[in-house]
Amino acid sequence: MGKFSITTPGYEEMKYRRCGRSGLLLPEVALGFWHNFGGDADAEKCRKIVEYAFEHGVTYFDLANNYGPPYGSAETRFGEIFKSSLASHRDEVIIATKAGHDMWAGPYGEWGSRKSLMASIDQSLKRMQLDYVDIFYSHRPDPETPLEETMQALVDIVRQGKALYVGISKYPADMAAEAYRYLREQHVPCLVYQGRYNMLNREPEQDILGQAAAQGAGFVAFSPLAQGLLTDRYLNGIPDGSRMTHSQFLRPEILTPELLSQLRQWNQEAADCGMTLAQYALKWILRRPEVTSVIVGASSVGQLKTNLGL
Ligand SMILES: NC(=O)c1ccc[n+]([C@@H]2O[C@H](COP(=O)([O-])OP(=O)(O)OC[C@H]3O[C@@H](n4cnc5c(N)ncnc54)[C@H](OP(=O)(O)O)[C@@H]3O)[C@@H](O)[C@H]2O)c1
Repeated sequence: MGKFSITTPGYEEMKYRRCGRSGLLLPEVALGFWHNFGGDADAEKCRKIVEYAFEHGVTYFDLANNYGPPYGSAETRFGEIFKSSLASHRDEVIIATKAGHDMWAGPYGEWGSRKSLMASIDQSLKRMQLDYVDIFYSHRPDPETPLEETMQALVDIVRQGKALYVGISKYPADMAAEAYRYLREQHVPCLVYQGRYNMLNREPEQDILGQAAAQGAGFVAFSPLAQGLLTDRYLNGIPDGSRMTHSQFLRPEILTPELLSQLRQWNQEAADCGMTLAQYALKWILRRPEVTSVIVGASSVGQLKTNLGL
């Protein structure tokens, strides 16, 4: 703990789980930067969310090259917050970023070529003002690029000291199997699989969870609250400023009477257990031993506080 640090980590408030068969422990609840940390977000609000997270034991921060908007701005913002609030705690936090989705113009700004991944990690490090990230992910499978090329780029990024561990995200089981094999053979085993898993999307239960466990990889769940559906956010309408009012990734059409009725039923079950629906939904994911962490998003300290109150 740094003598001059502004923030004090809250380790005693968090449970940590081993990430697969690695040496790394991750917090049960991690913080993601997909939304709420872009260029137009309130800088002080962002800082308070990050500081609150660390002060309550959240040691894993999940970013990607194109989080914003605009693309890259969440990394820039995180870098600024890190430098002023957390820099003395570099050895106490896990910072992850990713490449693979649409990022910059032209044929090298997305997907899984060596050209794209090598350029992207350098850009991310520059934006975050870091020497290395803890985890670098291939953000999505690339059906066109040979898997060996993408995986070898991950291996080389580790060998160059730009990342400590690597992970894969959203890979189908057959490609994940190849990725696990290739990385193990290169002695850079895949640390973690990142996939969408929540009470409304149980797909990873089919094969991805079991496969990750068998391969010695951890599993971290993204969108564990289904972008806010599995909270009280939309139980009585669509509030101003909520993600559903401004994000192309969460459209109002999804909120059918059937879904609302299901959400209200779960909300009642949660209340019967003395929990909020958000807490109930996170606990439901963490019931699985294959799961290492849930990566929550939060647009306020209040939301994060609820999500950490498991
Ligand atoms: N690998 C990938 O391809 C991938 C894809 C998606 C996400 N991710 C990662 O996963 C992270 C989390 O994803 P996500 O943001 O979709 O997660 P989420 O936790 O399912 O949704 C977060 C949103 O739900 C609402 N919310 C959260 N807690 C709440 C509470 N207690 N009460 C009421 N509303 C609450 C907020 O929406 P409002 O804005 O409406 O307040 C918040 O922005 C991302 O930041 C990213 O790091 C990765």
